[in-house]
Amino acid sequence: MSQPDPSTGFAVTTPAFLSRLAEIVGEDGLLTDDVALDGYGRDETEDLHFQPEAVVLPRDTEQVSRVLAWANENLVPVTPRGAGTGLSGGALPVHRGLVLSLERLDRIRSIDSENLTVVAEAGVVTAELQRRVDEHGLFYPPDPASRETCQLGGNIAEDSAGPRCCLYGSTRRWVMGLEAVRPDGAILETGSRNLKDVAGYNLTQLLVGSEGTLAVVTAATLRLIPRPAATLTLALPFDRLEQAARAVCEIFRGGHSPAACELLESGAIQAVAASHPVPAQLNRCDALILIELHGDDTEQLLRRAAALGETAEQMGGDEVLLAKEPPEQRRLWEIREKVGEAVKQRSLYKEADAVVPRSALAELVRHARRAAARHRLEAICYGHAGDGNLHVSLVQGELDAEAWQEARDAAEEDLFRAVVSLGGTVSGEHGIGWTQRRYLPLAVGETELETMAAIKRLFDPRGILNPGKIFVE
Ligand code: LAC
Ligand code: ZN
Repeated sequence: MSQPDPSTGFAVTTPAFLSRLAEIVGEDGLLTDDVALDGYGRDETEDLHFQPEAVVLPRDTEQVSRVLAWANENLVPVTPRGAGTGLSGGALPVHRGLVLSLERLDRIRSIDSENLTVVAEAGVVTAELQRRVDEHGLFYPPDPASRETCQLGGNIAEDSAGPRCCLYGSTRRWVMGLEAVRPDGAILETGSRNLKDVAGYNLTQLLVGSEGTLAVVTAATLRLIPRPAATLTLALPFDRLEQAARAVCEIFRGGHSPAACELLESGAIQAVAASHPVPAQLNRCDALILIELHGDDTEQLLRRAAALGETAEQMGGDEVLLAKEPPEQRRLWEIREKVGEAVKQRSLYKEADAVVPRSALAELVRHARRAAARHRLEAICYGHAGDGNLHVSLVQGELDAEAWQEARDAAEEDLFRAVVSLGGTVSGEHGIGWTQRRYLPLAVGETELETMAAIKRLFDPRGILNPGKIFVE
């Protein structure tokens, strides 16, 4: 029914193919106008754009299953998509075909306050889920920077994390079970509501972080905990970034157990300060550690904060800024949350999502600066220092387009080679997707890559699901 495109090996959609799709999802569930195709051809990754042939918006799992089965039968590629907030091009339809958006699967099916679980569909916005469970005194910790817009399905596909994952772990730790659809349309129900479950292979955790290449997640059973009774935020400024990086390690060695432990270097703070108020004391420093403490009551947290302040001082830190009231705490966290967008506003950039064992943080920063300088770029480091995970933004600055592309690729490769030599890896939370594929073999061995490719073939023998991602073809 559809014609194969010799450049991709996939079929090109035909009017007959699309009209069958419209029967499955309804006329309003199929978009083919230029504005929609343009919008769904982008995500938050750099300035990349790949125009799909059509966008499908199913309303339920059954429709997802029928769309996938139809595309699979016709060899039409399908790129699943949440809110498009990803940073490795995972939702870009690089081989055209269909974008399958899960945005209409947006129901919270049930909240079980007795067993502390929630069942939510893939299109539920993460912050919305957090607000809904908060009404029951419950807490879902993963907090990607995009949580006001990103969706659970995307979070699960990428195993997204955020500042609070330092104490609570990334999305993976909270996923107990999944409803997901294989490319052939078969519906999988993995895991359970049981806190212990070793019945067979752990398909749930195989699918988490598989970047929408094995199956399309339509709903998830997530674990919750009671909302922490008290929180406190500390800002620890340092005159030298290396001191701050070493202090991070010391904070954990000292048993301070922060819920979040973030690092911002001066370039990141200044990028934010260009359009947002930043206290002078923080604007002057070379690096800033932001800490959030969770506990039973404020008195207890103030004692912990005092001990933490002493550790920071011993490591060369300046005067600590303490925020007790929620609005003050929010103001400090806003500085951190605005970094990504602020860097983007400055110029074109490429973000390397580097992660190393925590003790190598200072080395990581040194390598980032060296790699950038060698190729006439600026590096801005910030992120989840408590997890050893820093986002290194390589900024275009004055370079022209051609010089920029060359410099960017060369600097990023230098950086990742250094990261791997430090025992680190090539993505902590943004995924491999489209933009990081060529770095995967630096961190993952041949036998492991081969095993991964075999798993991909098992789930998706015709290769229609999110093709072009993770592996270099
Ligand atoms: C952040 C995103 C870029 O941490 O992961 O702000
Ligand atoms: Zn991050």
